[in-house]
Amino acid sequence: MKINGKPYRTIWLAPDGWSVEVIDQTRLPHEFSVIPLRSMDDAARAILSMQVRGAPLIGATAAYGLAMAIREDASDEAIDRAVAHLAKQRPTAINLRWALDEMRRAVQNQPREERVAAAYERAALICDDDVETCRLIGEHGRKLIMDIARKKAGAPVEVLTHCNAGWLACVDWGTATSPIYQAHDAGVPLHVWVDETRPRNQGAALTAYELGSHGVPHTIVVDNAGGHLMQHGRVDLCIVGTDRVAANGDVANKIGTYLKALAAKDNNVPFYVALPHSTIDWTLSEGMSIPIEERSADEVLKMPGRLPDGSVVTVEIAAPGSPAGNPAFDVTPARLITGFITERGVCPATREGLLSLYPERAPD
Ligand code: MRU
Repeated sequence: MKINGKPYRTIWLAPDGWSVEVIDQTRLPHEFSVIPLRSMDDAARAILSMQVRGAPLIGATAAYGLAMAIREDASDEAIDRAVAHLAKQRPTAINLRWALDEMRRAVQNQPREERVAAAYERAALICDDDVETCRLIGEHGRKLIMDIARKKAGAPVEVLTHCNAGWLACVDWGTATSPIYQAHDAGVPLHVWVDETRPRNQGAALTAYELGSHGVPHTIVVDNAGGHLMQHGRVDLCIVGTDRVAANGDVANKIGTYLKALAAKDNNVPFYVALPHSTIDWTLSEGMSIPIEERSADEVLKMPGRLPDGSVVTVEIAAPGSPAGNPAFDVTPARLITGFITERGVCPATREGLLSLYPERAPD
């Protein structure tokens, strides 16, 4: 997508041909800054500190992180150590493990001298595959928005989204936002309610930044506003992303997604989850087994912001000395989800629905 008219992906190979560059998402929306990742440790730190975040981008960054590790030491033992180190940085998004498994498969049967080239080739493919996958998610999801638009006779379709499942969370396009961008580009009038998404404000800081850069009409609302908007008929559909989908259709996504799904169910608002194939964990039979990342209390107790003089500072916002809990994700049961939007089409949020699109995953 474009920033100030210039097309960007979220991660790309640097001119030296072996390190990578990423957009530092901890600086957005106040500053657009590109940072280099020159080692596996750099990649791991960027994932943990959320300079890069969002399930598909975490996977893509880990893939290049492993390629950089293999460049330094291509032995089996070093690869095992690097995979273990990268995998533990963020536990919920399955794309991290998926990307590392893909990378390992690409190099394991290669002679050592060919492993570096094979690793970089596979990391590039993971990125390209993500771009095409997200584009296709948009093509399928756009039709859902267009169906609603036809019934609204020119009034904007009101979409609510939570967190940032946009192009900043992927390599390009986004998952939940791809249908929005594609419908908008096709001339469908729409407006997006952007949940601010406490504690890290991925909605207010990142989704709003993306939508604004692309000219999509949107309004930031506090996380608790969604139910009220739905009760008053001001949301036509919800589209969110996900960090892991269990084989039965339960979905882990940013904390607060579950409450939006409950409100949507109570108000007959369609609730869709957009996802790439790399986010399905076929090994988990239900969502309650998905590990939920617990992050630092500081994310709840403090908040960064920009002062009138342009400087960005972090301030304390809570009663001094009070502890805080910070579960970063929750699980939305499949029964609350209207459907999945994938690169292969739209399906019910059930085991059968997923298998209808991914029949190769059916048990023999
Ligand atoms: O903690 P984050 O910012 O990595 O969480 C991101 C989300 O929850 C996204 O909705 C999810 O990764 C889907 S991204 C296409």
